[in-house]
Amino acid sequence: MSSKYSRIMADMKRRLEEGLLTAGSKLPSVRQVSEDYGCSKNTVMKAYDELEKEHVIYSVPKSGYYVVNEFQKAREELEVIDFLSAGPDKNIMPYVEFQHCLNQAIDQYKEELFTYSDQQGLYSLRVELVKYLQNLQVFTEPERLVVVSGSQQALHLLVSLAFPNGKNNILIEQPTYFGFIESLNLQQANVLGIELTMEGIELERLEYMFRNNDIKFFYIIPRFHNPLGHCYTNREKKKIVELAEKYDVYIVEDDILGDLDPDAKADPLFSYDPSGRVIYIKSLSKVFLPGLRIGTVVLPALMMNDFLRAKFCSDFNSSALSQGALETYLKSGMFNSHLKKVKEVYRTKMHLVQEACEALLPANTQFSRPASGFYLSISLPEHVKAKQVVQMLHEQHIYVDDASRMFLPQYKKENLIRLSISQVNESQIKLGIKMLADCIAVLDSRKNHRKPPTFLPI
Ligand SMILES: Cc1ncc(COP(=O)(O)O)c(C=O)c1O
Repeated sequence: MSSKYSRIMADMKRRLEEGLLTAGSKLPSVRQVSEDYGCSKNTVMKAYDELEKEHVIYSVPKSGYYVVNEFQKAREELEVIDFLSAGPDKNIMPYVEFQHCLNQAIDQYKEELFTYSDQQGLYSLRVELVKYLQNLQVFTEPERLVVVSGSQQALHLLVSLAFPNGKNNILIEQPTYFGFIESLNLQQANVLGIELTMEGIELERLEYMFRNNDIKFFYIIPRFHNPLGHCYTNREKKKIVELAEKYDVYIVEDDILGDLDPDAKADPLFSYDPSGRVIYIKSLSKVFLPGLRIGTVVLPALMMNDFLRAKFCSDFNSSALSQGALETYLKSGMFNSHLKKVKEVYRTKMHLVQEACEALLPANTQFSRPASGFYLSISLPEHVKAKQVVQMLHEQHIYVDDASRMFLPQYKKENLIRLSISQVNESQIKLGIKMLADCIAVLDSRKNHRKPPTFLPI
């Protein structure tokens, strides 16, 4: 049987959800609630304290308890179907558990967490990260790791560095992660592209480019690609590493969603690399807490000094507070059990989205079918523009992403949309895909001067 205090909490939350208590309004007094529930004032205070800890309400001394505005906002957000946001699912962000780790880390490290610290990252955190990376088949040592302020920082700094091969051009998959394209543009780097589809890349073309195009490094997102959702096979990864070695090209492997891979036999490119040409970047942003701004990069010994100089110029060191608390979180085993949970959540959502796409999307659209991850992409009929779909759906509070900004100008496709499954509510998936399907059908019929289709409710 649930305790009185948890009943009070649940009832108050229900009233908030139903709009019976609105932002800024005052909660019933402690005395009133204790009479209504036939319990002591202490029990009510305990329930209100818990709600305050969850930031649902706040207290004003000598006045009472009030509803936090944010709660109201969350209620309004529920109306939205969000296939756009690419942060982790807010319902499984373990920030409350992490709060304990923050406190423990402060107790342990004291003022050390609040002053400048090692630009390579806390050594004891790097030791924990080495153990974590082993689960991803990345075997290395703390001396080769740098803790970075998110993988975006590692990418940005690598663009700026001269590489030991003395080459000049950066090769990227087309399409690719928009943040990397932004970094290349900002730094006016020399960039070349190679087309990536759900069938992969043409390895002969890659070899041709490695041989002839003065490639400094090839940036690759080998698992659950952003935006396509594509994964390379082990055979392809091995071959790419072999080519890199043959033509003295570096590989920058961005394995941001690698933790979500249900295939225990899938290896990172790093594991096929005997010569130290693969730079492995692992962000924790998608499976943990992006706000910590912590990721790590495994570097060849030859590049460590230059990278650390660039890191020093960028921000001295990544937040020591985040690092200390993450170390505690990893050590405690909480991270591994959290990972089990997130793997399941995203795999289920990805499955539901694909099931809905299969059942509802018009026959002249194609969608990718990754086994997990955050992203899948939908190729619209040739003359239906992603921009129009995004706009039309936006008016109905359904958010999807136009992938055209994820291409270099010469590769641009305007009929690709990206869905991110991480923040969409499971219960809204079918409706969201149905609305998307209807929208595509309407735009398609307009272009073909056909009568718009009649829609059946789902
Ligand atoms: C493929 C990829 N790499 C890197 C990043 C940057 O992530 P962070 O800097 O939070 O580690 C993102 C963010 O969405 C991404 O999708």
